[in-house]
Amino acid sequence: MSTTTEATMEVRVWRGGEEGEYESFDVPRRDSQTVLDVVTWIQRHADPTLAYRFACRVGVCGSCAMTVNGRPRWTCRTHVSKVVENGRLEIGPLANLPVIRDLAADMTPFFDKWQKAMGIFVPSRTRYEPLETISPDSAERQAADAAIECIN
Ligand code: FES
Repeated sequence: MSTTTEATMEVRVWRGGEEGEYESFDVPRRDSQTVLDVVTWIQRHADPTLAYRFACRVGVCGSCAMTVNGRPRWTCRTHVSKVVENGRLEIGPLANLPVIRDLAADMTPFFDKWQKAMGIFVPSRTRYEPLETISPDSAERQAADAAIECIN
């Protein structure tokens, strides 16, 4: 049973695999705190067995993605102040993938689909040919802008 004070928030975190339940933790509020900071605090101060995944911590790799108050978010770029609802956070694994444990989802189905979609760079020139010039105004370049922040 958790008790929330002014300086803390109640954080419900998914525990288990496909079957499991949410467990509540009282986590201290901090300025500029991200959701990934919250998960890391729980793992370091409350329960070292909590499983989750991250890598870059700067919004590039996407490995920190979790479901936060019902929406998928990259947790290292999501500030608590933007998503906390009535002093509470609920954090679960991504909803559309199998759960390995706790907040870690199995990314295998994602990468299988990614391979089938041929989401890979196939160069049209060799390293010995001059670089191709792409106009910023071209339709192809404009279309690429829609997904330019994705590392892939
Ligand atoms: S840890 Fe890489 S995007 Fe969040």
